[in-house]
Amino acid sequence: ELTFKDAFEGKFLVGTALNVEQVAGNEPKAIEIAKKHFNSAVAENCMKMENIHPEEDIFFWDEADAFVEFAEKNNMHIVGHTLVWHSQAAPWIFVDENGEDVSREVLIERMKHHIQTIVGRYKGRVDGWDVVNEAIEGDGSWRESKWYQIIGPEYIELAFQFAQEADPEAELYYNDYGVSGKAKCDGIYDLVSNLLEKGVKVDGIGLQGHLNFDIPLISEMGASIEKLSSLGVNLMVTELDMTIVPWPSDEVTAEVSLNYELSKEYDPYSEGLPDSVYQEVMDRYTGFFEMFLRHHEKITRVTFWGVHDGNSWRNDWPIEGRTDFPLLFDRNYQMKEGVENILEMAKNW
Ligand code: G3I
Repeated sequence: ELTFKDAFEGKFLVGTALNVEQVAGNEPKAIEIAKKHFNSAVAENCMKMENIHPEEDIFFWDEADAFVEFAEKNNMHIVGHTLVWHSQAAPWIFVDENGEDVSREVLIERMKHHIQTIVGRYKGRVDGWDVVNEAIEGDGSWRESKWYQIIGPEYIELAFQFAQEADPEAELYYNDYGVSGKAKCDGIYDLVSNLLEKGVKVDGIGLQGHLNFDIPLISEMGASIEKLSSLGVNLMVTELDMTIVPWPSDEVTAEVSLNYELSKEYDPYSEGLPDSVYQEVMDRYTGFFEMFLRHHEKITRVTFWGVHDGNSWRNDWPIEGRTDFPLLFDRNYQMKEGVENILEMAKNW
């Protein structure tokens, strides 16, 4: 039986996010899939600041250590996610004892300590880090996060510099969603191009692949891959999944959804997918992988955001109780019908 890692051998790595329960051995069937199919792993949550560095003087290493040990033992390429992000940042980092914003100098020191303690601990073991996550808005402007507000735009180059000092051999990435949008892609291009001009070590850009049922167009993501590859850095498709649950507001869905009529055939509170929707999802996934293969010389890794439908963050989001089907293994740990065609295509590419 063809596996993901064998099918894409020589093209790019294929990875998966792993959660804490899986790493702890509480979901052996998911782990079996991960070992069999994937040669790269990323921590879904346990390396985020809120989890790993909840208080100034407290680092919680157990889960991240277990993740790194697991991936090492299974010869997987290891990605650390994520050092500097506006979301899931531990609240203490931005404020002093009176609850006021800390000064620029203090935040830079805290950021440096955060990055260097974590990257230093896994030096030579974690192969690449998502150093900065989601710093650019959809219109290409800077996200006005606390990092940006207190430190200014230099927080990004400082973060990369601190990471490089802690592990000069590790690859350092900028990771973001919605990179298929032209304005956002241009913003990221400018950001990384400026960093490279200044001599900052940026090894790659992660294009998060949180696909919807109908956006982005495959050609839009392809155009972004082409544009960003001209920077000469590695590109990775990260966080790949495809939600088929329509956005709760009909108005919004109708506006953004090319397949709105089709998406209405699917009841988000049901246990399964109608054939028409299933086929559409598989065709769309196949189309994306065909595009990734066309660009395989520019892409070093494609990573799914989860092993199987049952543990994807897409369930229950943004409304509790919804069931989603965003990945290529189902809730019963079976590879979905049609995936073998994607693997055959890759093998014969
Ligand atoms: O583990 C706790 C549990 O103990 C607690 O009872 C429960 C109550 O809320 O929360 C659990 O933690 C949740 C965690 O997922 C594990 O399930 C957090 O609340 C929840 O916020 C967290 O969501 C994660 C989200 O990032 C925010 O960090 C998702 O799992 C994760 O898939 C998602 O991943 C992000 C990427 O890091 C960045 N790009 C977007 C992507 C999707 O949002």
